[in-house]
Amino acid sequence: MERGHQDDFDRQDRIEVRANGPLEGAVAIGGAKNSVLKLMAACLLTEGTFVIRNVPDIHDVAVMADVLRAMGVSVSRVGDALTIERPEAIIPEAPYALTEQLRASTAVLGPLLAGIGHARVALPGGDDFGPRPIDMHIAGLEAIGCRFEISGGDVHAAADNLVGNSVLLEYPSVGATENVMMAAVRAKGTTVIDNAAREPEIADLAGFLNHMGGHVIGAGTSTITVDGVEELRPVEYTVVSDRIEAATFMAALGVATGEITLVGARLDHMAILCRKLGEMGVRTSSDPDGVWAMCSGRLRSADVSTLPYPGLPTDCKPLLVAMLSVAEGVGIVTENLFSGRFRYVDELVRMGADIRTEGHHAVIRGVDRLSGAPVRASDIRAGAALVVAGLAADGITVVSDPHHIDRGYEDFAGKLSALGADVCHERPGD
Ligand code: UD1
Repeated sequence: MERGHQDDFDRQDRIEVRANGPLEGAVAIGGAKNSVLKLMAACLLTEGTFVIRNVPDIHDVAVMADVLRAMGVSVSRVGDALTIERPEAIIPEAPYALTEQLRASTAVLGPLLAGIGHARVALPGGDDFGPRPIDMHIAGLEAIGCRFEISGGDVHAAADNLVGNSVLLEYPSVGATENVMMAAVRAKGTTVIDNAAREPEIADLAGFLNHMGGHVIGAGTSTITVDGVEELRPVEYTVVSDRIEAATFMAALGVATGEITLVGARLDHMAILCRKLGEMGVRTSSDPDGVWAMCSGRLRSADVSTLPYPGLPTDCKPLLVAMLSVAEGVGIVTENLFSGRFRYVDELVRMGADIRTEGHHAVIRGVDRLSGAPVRASDIRAGAALVVAGLAADGITVVSDPHHIDRGYEDFAGKLSALGADVCHERPGD
């Protein structure tokens, strides 16, 4: 590399990884990103002071806090607890400058409609996985009395009277299920959401709403019944543990081998994933502290197909592809949720992986070792997968754009290092 380019590279925020033998010890799994963002939105439902505990210190939470602040809500953090004070009057608007950074900010729609009766939310647009429409959110909310108009890139929404109704989702969309639940909780009468998403984060949101005085029954199954109530109250609540963060450390264990405890993790939220990991050679079991996991030899290949919960999570796919890159044999991975989620594959190939993609499928022939290389993170899980791959590579892997990883992981490099990995997050500005 020429000196000028080398200097630029040295100034960049990056994660450096070197293989360093088996992982050992305990790692604390934080609260689920995909739950806490929705709980924060749900605080818009009523005036008062909420406290949410077990909140990971990640960039997406910081952006959601900014979304709330832009509405006039106060958000402060002490340790792992967020205090959210929602005043009586708020500005029910989410600007593009924030929604484009965080697609999950569309979760404010339901609570704003139920809590204030109108909202203006900038459409966030697509991302690296492909288009991210919100047509099902809108259809579900329309069914209970909301009206929508899209102009100037914004969704303008209003609801004078929310009235319970049957909502049949075309697909078990996580975001649509949550938005309808958060609006229906204040509707007049009963809403029945059929073909609802079943993720543990949906059950966590239902727990939060019920704590507030809502009546949500059946969350975690594909039929959710919401009996509207007239009043809700602010609450204190602890976020469910992050199954995708837990899966990330199990993937790291798979490529590095070793024995670890995932403190606070829930095996019951990862049943199909753990069965697949078992096929590949990672043993897991429930532990009084969370989940115990061990891997003692080279991984074996397996076929993988992503599906809505309780199926294999699409968010785990890049991690599984990284594992299959060094497993013995050939594995076929099929993506069923998002149209294009294989961008990180080119980076793994640069590290010596043998992967071919065709539409929704990837065929991965495991190689003995990868070779460390400069690679670029393109989203949260793809970035984490590149770090995981670096644990099975000769030489140094340098992952640039690690801000994608910071969106969803609190101190990822620090937690891996504490397990014995040689991973360092270089922040030249620090
Ligand atoms: C959530 C998670 C994300 C995870 C995904 C699937 C958060 C913040 N994000 O995203 O990490 O990968 O669930 O488990 O919780 N769709 C439509 N129209 C809609 C809504 C969705 O066509 O109105 C499509 C999407 O483009 C996608 C599929 O349905 O192809 C799944 O989306 P959905 O379940 O809604 O995922 P998110 O809530 O966006």
